[in-house]
Amino acid sequence: MQNLKLNREIAHLAILQRIELCSPTLKKLRKLLGRYFFTNILSKYFINPVQISKNYHQLMTEELVIIEKYIKNKDKVLSIGSGIGGLEILINQKFNNHISFIEKNYISKKIKYGWDSGNKEAYNNLNLLETFLLKNGVKKEKFEIFDYDENNLPKSKFDLIISLYSLDYHYEYDLYRDYLTKVMKPESVLIFDTIRPDYFSQVFKTVKVLKKDFNTVHKSKRIVCTNV
Ligand SMILES: C[S@@+](CC[C@H](N)C(=O)[O-])C[C@H]1O[C@@H](n2cnc3c(N)ncnc32)[C@H](O)[C@@H]1O
Repeated sequence: MQNLKLNREIAHLAILQRIELCSPTLKKLRKLLGRYFFTNILSKYFINPVQISKNYHQLMTEELVIIEKYIKNKDKVLSIGSGIGGLEILINQKFNNHISFIEKNYISKKIKYGWDSGNKEAYNNLNLLETFLLKNGVKKEKFEIFDYDENNLPKSKFDLIISLYSLDYHYEYDLYRDYLTKVMKPESVLIFDTIRPDYFSQVFKTVKVLKKDFNTVHKSKRIVCTNV
């Protein structure tokens, strides 16, 4: 298995999607110069793509270890808000399953985290996502990418749905509530990060906490939900 290699354009997206990939200096400059300057200048031109590739590969490998036992025998996977898709590449390399992606196709000028501003914030480029998947050996027939804003979301049922630091972290669960009801079977597994795991005990029959993040702004928990 080859390490994930991010060119400057993809590394730029990765930094916006995963702030922990920033060097301490870049984080300081972000505080000093503001989010607009960070999003449009610093995170594009003041980064080291080789170092970011290493760190990103490591981070995604750790994410895979956390959710791995829920992926076996799941042929149809949906990823909501995958970012550049490194985790999904590792999943496909290991399990050779089919992965559908729902993402947004623009980069907000000034990234804000959280549920405010009507859930409009996004930081992805779907052409770059496709290129990154193909470059890392995911076969064309093994994935499909859907632009959230084009209103043609996939209608088939999925065995596994993952949404790391996106659904109910970056925007409210309600945005996908009805859609998820349609594409989940009772035994489908949904994994995502949320600040309100207790609330989901009322939505799903089984909810288990996989991971707790206490050092982040949102202090979220990663939960795995099913209806069996
Ligand atoms: C914090 S990043 C997480 C990326 C990736 N899951 C990871 O763990 O590295 C959140 C992602 O959600 C995407 N996003 C924002 N709104 C979305 C929506 N309504 N549907 C799908 N993705 C969305 C953003 O473009 C961004 O790539």
